[in-house]
Amino acid sequence: MFMMILSPYLRKVKIINIKIIVIVCFSTCFFAIFVVKYTRKTGMMKGNFKMNNKRDENMVRITTKELADRFIDEQIKALREQIGKRKVLLALSGGVDSSVVAALLIKAVGDQLVCVHVNHGLLRKGEPEQVVRVFRDELGANLIYVDAVDRFLDKLAGVAEPEKKRKIIGAEFIRVFEEEARKLHGIDFLAQGTIYPDILESGPVKAHHNVGGLPDDLKFELVEPIKLLFKDEVRVVGKALGLPDNMVNRQPFPGPGLGVRCLGAITRDRLEAVRESDAILREEFAAAGLEGKVWQYFTVVPDYRSVGVKDGLRSFEWFVVIRAVNTRDAMTAAIEPIPYELLGKIVNRITSKVKGVNRVLYDLTPKPTGTIEWE
Ligand code: XMP
Repeated sequence: MFMMILSPYLRKVKIINIKIIVIVCFSTCFFAIFVVKYTRKTGMMKGNFKMNNKRDENMVRITTKELADRFIDEQIKALREQIGKRKVLLALSGGVDSSVVAALLIKAVGDQLVCVHVNHGLLRKGEPEQVVRVFRDELGANLIYVDAVDRFLDKLAGVAEPEKKRKIIGAEFIRVFEEEARKLHGIDFLAQGTIYPDILESGPVKAHHNVGGLPDDLKFELVEPIKLLFKDEVRVVGKALGLPDNMVNRQPFPGPGLGVRCLGAITRDRLEAVRESDAILREEFAAAGLEGKVWQYFTVVPDYRSVGVKDGLRSFEWFVVIRAVNTRDAMTAAIEPIPYELLGKIVNRITSKVKGVNRVLYDLTPKPTGTIEWE
């Protein structure tokens, strides 16, 4: 009897319960779909960056400004959480990876970031100036510019052996950076432009240290906001952050810089010939619309002179080698066919404008048997 009186109410309660269950199921599914979609889009759920060195296989490539903006917002939050009110140090080379990390950190923590740009004298024409202009003048970064040109070139004087040159450049870089780090107080973090291929190359769990070799008493916690990104994604993020195109699309540039292209013992005059001829090549490639189409192009100046004629007189000067290659992964490389007319224009400009040069050669050797760099 009691149940009969209650049954319409119970039915109502059941219906309400079912409705609640349906609503709960729906919202759970909706939330799950949202989470999956969100994760698939950027792959950067909070904490993911700090915890993992492994890229989620569902993580969609950042190919659009929209995805890059979302990544930037997530990273700003994560960086603020990690860093709090403390200070971060970054070696800013002007390469795409460290530039993107700098721009992200400036947005996230402003002047808690201290950037150190070491000019070792082996950078390309205009690069140190561009780093200062973009980061200090335009983005308001707390940037320490270290003119270490004499220091590096003095150490390198008379050293012809390639491995020795590399070691000197690497060790001196660490020394200069360390000196700057010691002058600063209260730095807890070291930011690095580690990207995913660095992690893949050094194994999935081992940290890859870009600024390796710092002494043990300089202990920093690492900040690596782009460590799950591939290079193409770093470029999309850099563009979304407003970095200049030529910085974002910068060609690969070896750590020892022009030092590996000024073959043999580096002298200031021959280094200048490398820098000036490289600048002419880059300008002409850009004007001919080859920028971005050719993977890597540069000039090399070996320590060798040959006889030529300049202004009706015998000259005894260096030659410049042009290298322009296309590749996917730098393991093999093909030669880019450059129109003869353009080559002629480049030869003319180099031989008439670059001091100490009377010949220009075009390297037609693929990799293998040649490597991309000459040294
Ligand atoms: P190679 O010369 O080995 O270069 O075919 C492959 C790619 O790596 C770039 N790269 C370097 N090359 N010393 C180098 O000789 C370095 O420290 C370095 N870092 C990067 C090189 O420019 C080419 O794209």
